[in-house]
Amino acid sequence: MAQEDIFKKLVAHCKEYGYVFQSSEIYDGLSAVYDYGQYGVELKNNIKKYWWDSMVLLHENVVGLDSAIFMHPTIWKASGHVDAFNDPLIDNKDSKKRYRADVLIEEQLAKFEEKIDKEIAKAQKRFGEAFNEQQFRETNPRVLANRQKFEELHARFAKALNDNNLQELKQIIIDQEIVCPVSGTRNWTDVRQFNLMFSTEMGSTSEGAMKIFLRPETAQGIFVNYLNVQKTGRMKIPFGIAQIGKAFRNEIVARQFIFRMREFEQMEMQFFVKPGTELDWFKKWKEIRMKWHQALGFGAENYRFHEHEKLAHYANAAVDIEYKFPFGFKEVEGIHSRTNFDLSQHEQYSGKKLRYFDPEMNESYIPYVVETSIGVDRMFLQVISAAYCEEELEKDSRVVLKLPPVLAPVKLAVLPLVKKDGLPEKAREIIDNLKFDFNCQYDEKDSIGKRYRRQDAIGTPFCVTVDHQTTQDDTVTIRYRDSMEQERVAIAELSKIIGKKVSMKQLFEKL
Ligand code: GAP
Repeated sequence: MAQEDIFKKLVAHCKEYGYVFQSSEIYDGLSAVYDYGQYGVELKNNIKKYWWDSMVLLHENVVGLDSAIFMHPTIWKASGHVDAFNDPLIDNKDSKKRYRADVLIEEQLAKFEEKIDKEIAKAQKRFGEAFNEQQFRETNPRVLANRQKFEELHARFAKALNDNNLQELKQIIIDQEIVCPVSGTRNWTDVRQFNLMFSTEMGSTSEGAMKIFLRPETAQGIFVNYLNVQKTGRMKIPFGIAQIGKAFRNEIVARQFIFRMREFEQMEMQFFVKPGTELDWFKKWKEIRMKWHQALGFGAENYRFHEHEKLAHYANAAVDIEYKFPFGFKEVEGIHSRTNFDLSQHEQYSGKKLRYFDPEMNESYIPYVVETSIGVDRMFLQVISAAYCEEELEKDSRVVLKLPPVLAPVKLAVLPLVKKDGLPEKAREIIDNLKFDFNCQYDEKDSIGKRYRRQDAIGTPFCVTVDHQTTQDDTVTIRYRDSMEQERVAIAELSKIIGKKVSMKQLFEKL
């Protein structure tokens, strides 16, 4: 099945099974804003816990923070967001649709890569075991021609971005004959800059209302509190501050479900280091964060690093961790070496000293910062895309979410085989014992096969079936979601068996 079709099915599945709903759906929805349903919120909370504990529990020099969404407006002037937090936009005059010029060009670049991948897949099929991919890449004329087109376009695009040359971005779109996906025409406007921050007013007008912004990143809340935390927590450099919270961006292109939203959540960690050591720390955090992703077991080949074409105004090094979504490799997380830009700016704009006194060096300095920044929603989409699976079985087929048990919203379902003979009561008894440790679900409706399918569809890793033997010897069957194998175990063993499989500890031990 084409990857696009799989993605459409995934989106429909998320709605049908209570993971994600369109916001304000009964009013025809609000574009690029989503609500999380009964299972979605559990998965999201588990992702956040995995991130939070991996930062704050596993690193004794990383502590947490929860800063407000509303902040003094000068913060956004100092950070550069008022003047430079822009995306280059372009309109198609026929469809009246608005696009990000850089995204149109990135999609064109991806097309060259797709063509190369297709050639390789074809040749692989033809030559079988004897296929030498590296040699094929280096010699096949069609692969070489597409690679050259990719490199030329990439170099031109990177230069246009770095020079902030909007006219050149438009010229690239024209030269590449990129058409509007809706109208199919090349009738484009000029490229313009568009600021992504939402604003609102604080205070009543009679008192003089103040224009404030909804934060477009959580990071600034950390910067302006770094000395509060350092002093009250007696933190020594190097140390980090981690935060999870909402961020808002008036995105021009809001497509691909929860990949790019206007209201979303970030998990950010700013690591404060001695000037001159930031690139070493950047390298360390890059590796730590890749390990965190790969520990989930979705296959190392589905992740890659992507170096930035254009460094943000605050960075001296930046890399993305990309995951292979059904719509191609895309950013899930950014790791940035932000220099001392933000703290220096806040020192200048606030007039307050933001220096750290280093007792070892006996001098004060503005620390440098390495940041790791990941979107909760994007991580959610990554996990659910990796987990979604359609399987043909001997007699029928099933849709199963192969979520890592530690992240699954419901850990176990307890199912009485029939609704009589004391089996429902026994099942309830099991849940009453396990509910303090695990999110359990009770289900007695329909045949056992149908109930297994329902649990597969929401990703429940374990189904515990209570049958007549249970009433005699206090044993149950436990059915494993992925293998569908069943095992007979003592009720007294359930907590231990499940506890081991859903514990975050086994993930943390891989980090
Ligand atoms: N503080 C740095 C920062 O915000 P970013 O690369 O703009 O950097 C970091 O964003 C992460 O936040 C991204 O890697 C992505 O996972 C997530 N993110 C950014 N914009 C988003 C959006 N509109 N919708 C969902 N997630 C988004």
